[in-house]
Amino acid sequence: MVATPFGDRQTGRQYHPRAVIELREPWRIGPVEVPTRLVLAPMAGVSVQAFRRQGRRYGAGLVCSEMVSCAGIEHRNEKTLGYLRVASDEHPLAIQLFGSEPRPMADAARMVEAVGADIVDINFGCPVKKVTKTGAGAHLLEDQARACAIVGAIADAVDIPVSVKLRRGFRDGSRAALELGPRLVEAGAASLTLHPRSAQQMYTGTADHSLTAELVSLVDVPVVASGDVTSRARAQAVLATTGAEAVMVGRGAQGNPWALREIVDGDTGEPSREEVAAELVLFVRETVRELGERRASGFLKKFYGWYLGRGRFPKEFKQELLQLDSTEEIERRLLAAAPGAREIVERLEAEVPSGAELTLELPVSVYGGG
Ligand SMILES: Cc1cc2nc3c(=O)[nH]c(=O)nc-3n(C[C@H](O)[C@H](O)[C@H](O)COP(=O)(O)O)c2cc1C
Repeated sequence: MVATPFGDRQTGRQYHPRAVIELREPWRIGPVEVPTRLVLAPMAGVSVQAFRRQGRRYGAGLVCSEMVSCAGIEHRNEKTLGYLRVASDEHPLAIQLFGSEPRPMADAARMVEAVGADIVDINFGCPVKKVTKTGAGAHLLEDQARACAIVGAIADAVDIPVSVKLRRGFRDGSRAALELGPRLVEAGAASLTLHPRSAQQMYTGTADHSLTAELVSLVDVPVVASGDVTSRARAQAVLATTGAEAVMVGRGAQGNPWALREIVDGDTGEPSREEVAAELVLFVRETVRELGERRASGFLKKFYGWYLGRGRFPKEFKQELLQLDSTEEIERRLLAAAPGAREIVERLEAEVPSGAELTLELPVSVYGGG
């Protein structure tokens, strides 16, 4: 328990200290122990291994892959299978699947279990048309019988716990998640995550966590609250007012693992330029190892702004990095701008398992180009 009262800047409310939940406290999803009440959000185009491993180092108790296509797994698409790489220091880790057919989803879940994931997560929240028009993602909030059939088929197929990530509903004002949530638990879901925006809303407006509180009151499995949590005060307010077991942090952690440390430990210290450059260099190295130079150099571009913004480096410096052709040049430029970073990178690499020590729990031939 935290001893001092705290305020939620977003709502202006003050909370009684006794209502505050310590974030460094373990909780469980079925048999899986999650060491802190902070979950790193699955984000397509973001949640690579480097992001997840970094999240674990900075206090996330559970990390999640981005959504992986069930059809891609079914057809043994090499790029899709690359998303199933699990490193030894990621556990506990959830791998998220999206799809619309119970049987192939159950087969894909078996694969998720086989590669060593601790939890299989199902995406019933993706609002992107390319996904919803196939009957997957947030479409399933409106096709509840099928949603339950998918969860039931997966729960029957695997021994690891099944979790589901939902939005509040498809259209603005919808409360579909409150009807669907208990049905999914009955079908076998061991945990639910709610991002209480509608699919129609995409990322506009605010997450209405009064729905999270309602969902908590309706189910007897842990609920994770996702949406607009970017600070410790907000995290504690959401936990205290909803009864959720944990908060999930997405955009707030992009290029900013220090936000996770602030949320979990209350450590408000700003990182030095050297620390920022060091984390970015490590991130670049690991991502190149995971995706290869060609894919990584495009993928990484958005991260430069995320890391170097917030007044940490001059704008021109970011522009300069974006002009460089190879990640090697980027690393050289970062280390020239913050020479002390080299020592930090070396220390970090000595602390975390190197690429060679990572377990790839599928035969390497399966991964192909990854
Ligand atoms: C770039 C991006 C990609 C996302 N991809 C996924 C995804 O693959 N699966 C998923 O369940 N949610 C996805 N989300 C939603 C997040 O997991 C999270 O629920 C949402 O961003 C709200 O949390 P936040 O306010 O902390 O960002 C994505 C969000 C963003 C911004």
